[in-house]
Amino acid sequence: MQSVREFAQAKTAGRKIAMITAYDAPSARLVAGSAVDCVLVGDSVMMTVHGEADTLGATPEIMALHTRAVARGNPGCFIVADMPFLSGRKGKAFALDTAAALLRAGAQAVKLEGAAGHLKIIRHLVEAGIPVMGHLGLLPQSVRATDGFKVQARGAAAAKQLLKDAAALQEAGAFALVLECIPAELAREATAKVKIPTIGIGAGPHCDGQVLVWHDFLGLNNEFKPRFVRRFGDVAKPTRRALEAYAQAVQTGRFPNAKESF
Ligand code: KIV
Repeated sequence: MQSVREFAQAKTAGRKIAMITAYDAPSARLVAGSAVDCVLVGDSVMMTVHGEADTLGATPEIMALHTRAVARGNPGCFIVADMPFLSGRKGKAFALDTAAALLRAGAQAVKLEGAAGHLKIIRHLVEAGIPVMGHLGLLPQSVRATDGFKVQARGAAAAKQLLKDAAALQEAGAFALVLECIPAELAREATAKVKIPTIGIGAGPHCDGQVLVWHDFLGLNNEFKPRFVRRFGDVAKPTRRALEAYAQAVQTGRFPNAKESF
């Protein structure tokens, strides 16, 4: 993906969008040689990299730092960076400054969680020339106010509200929409209802694309394996083996050898 227009074209052509999160330059460099369409510098970085229990600790500075690293590792990649906790709630100027910092760090677009209370801000950012991706369903920034990391919009009223929010985000100018942890049938309905592409995570197969978190898809986090995660690699095991081999080589005096010394 090179531009927002290509997201719309992918949906029209029925071509599924493959998105992955990345938080650092080496991972972004690996994405550069792949067929993956775009990268999300998600505020999930607080959990996956910084070891926190949720994403609330993310700040504009932290998000800009990781965005800059990803952009250095994969120049030319379409990067979406997360607007961190509360950055859409401190007025238009704060939202604009945050989005500007993320774009200056190398993002092409920003993602903002939720619709209620954010529509005016999204419109404002879009009018300022900043592409915005929406995010509905499970909203990790609101886990303390809701029922945690659980499937959302199972009931009829919540499902109806999600469909309404999807249309409102499109109307506000969002170019794409993440649907997180909702029933597959609801994701199918939302995908049919809006013209902008939907990118699912735990939202079944009917979305216009999928996103997975780097550490989940590589099996780097053994403690975390929700139903919607498929591990496309198992990096933890060979890494542990490599650590054992390294420690043994150092401790037995076999590393470094003469060829590895000056
Ligand atoms: O922060 C993140 O990684 C996300 C994805 C789960 C969509 O928002």
